[in-house]
Amino acid sequence: MQTRRRPENMERINTPALAQAFIDEQIKEIKEQVGDKKVLLALSGGVDSSVVAALLIKAIGQNLVCVHVNHGLLRKGEPEQVIKVFRDEMNANLIYVDATDRFLDKLAGVSDPEEKRHIIGGEFIEVFAEEARKLDGIEFLAQGTIWPDILESEAGIKAHHNAGGLPEDLQFELVEPVLTLFKDEVREVGRALGLPAGMVDRQPFPGPGLGVRCPGAITRDRLEAVRESDAILREEFAKNGLEGKVWQYFTVVPDFKSTGVKDGKRTFDWPCIIRAINTTDVMEVTVEHLSAELIDHLVQRIITEVPGINRVLYDFTPKPPATVEYE
Ligand code: XMP
Repeated sequence: MQTRRRPENMERINTPALAQAFIDEQIKEIKEQVGDKKVLLALSGGVDSSVVAALLIKAIGQNLVCVHVNHGLLRKGEPEQVIKVFRDEMNANLIYVDATDRFLDKLAGVSDPEEKRHIIGGEFIEVFAEEARKLDGIEFLAQGTIWPDILESEAGIKAHHNAGGLPEDLQFELVEPVLTLFKDEVREVGRALGLPAGMVDRQPFPGPGLGVRCPGAITRDRLEAVRESDAILREEFAKNGLEGKVWQYFTVVPDFKSTGVKDGKRTFDWPCIIRAINTTDVMEVTVEHLSAELIDHLVQRIITEVPGINRVLYDFTPKPPATVEYE
């Protein structure tokens, strides 16, 4: 049963001073709640889990055990950034699990989007549970639940499935230090905790990761084409001042090929679709119109740098009728 709530009169945390006051208060509360016991956290590298990790490291140091599961569907450089920020710079007790082969083997030949999501979600819990069972003396599970998660689950919009999913033998008391915060406040707190801007301000990224941007049955080569083209898109958006301005942007490499020509020879390769959208609530989205120069530059980079791509397309479809992701 959820009992903690955002106080009606709580001031919006929108300055470094307010963020620092929240951090000080939470450190005290976390210490009171967990004492000298150990806390487990699934650290994805997303904003919420990263802020929770940074808060808990300040409060209990090595008694926080972070598990970062790489399901092979992360963006280029993500696992490396998690290791650099948390293990190298914050001295976190971090377990890194590269489960890429495990996930991709299970997903091989699976083309149904719901089945893919189900496999990714289920396998994630399996891997996390296996790591948890190897550890001794864990009594708490930290989670990056935020206030909109509670509101949406109360309104029946989506299940608040942050809490749980773990098997019966692994039940822990929850530690949810950012539960009373809205997303913008989590970011403010993240900045005050010294997390890098790229981590605090990052665009939304779905749990099933690049898996939903590699429509149909995932193959390693097409997945690499998604990852590489996405990295180019992010780099160019950052260079052109669009990072943090456009809500979400990514590439999709669909499972069909078309004829092209390169160095006087016929090619038969995939297209790469660019999607860049703006929204406030993700129920309705509009398309970001990029400059012709930027489009030309992106096309040139993607067709020359990404193996397997011979065409670049731009998706001009709003939501509705299209969703943001392709699956
Ligand atoms: P759609 O495609 O439904 O996406 O218009 C709306 C927003 O939700 C994100 N999204 C997900 N996030 N797990 C997540 O954590 C998912 O399975 C998932 N599917 C979509 C999507 O990136 C967009 O921001």
